[in-house]
Amino acid sequence: MLAKAVGPSARVIGIDSSQEMVEQACKRAEGLSAVEVELGGVHTLPLDDVSIDRAGTDRVLQSVTDPA
Ligand SMILES: C[S@@+](CC[C@H](N)C(=O)[O-])C[C@H]1O[C@@H](n2cnc3c(N)ncnc32)[C@H](O)[C@@H]1O
Repeated sequence: MLAKAVGPSARVIGIDSSQEMVEQACKRAEGLSAVEVELGGVHTLPLDDVSIDRAGTDRVLQSVTDPA
């Protein structure tokens, strides 16, 4: 998991448009204080501009109607 890779000084924010997936991710991240999970879409990310250093997706873009 990314939280273990980046170390204790970083934050990892997971975002998914499905409430069910957000709840599953929250359970998987229990005890990992660096991890936050938010409900949101790739076109409406709940993040301020220039507020993150890295972004990645895992098996999401094939579900998005306009991934560009
Ligand atoms: C194959 S699952 C992968 C879930 C997760 N990335 C993982 O690796 O466990 C694809 C996910 O993409 C999410 N998704 C689909 N369209 C999305 C969008 N427009 N914005 C954010 N998430 C989206 C779905 O809710 C689903 O949870």
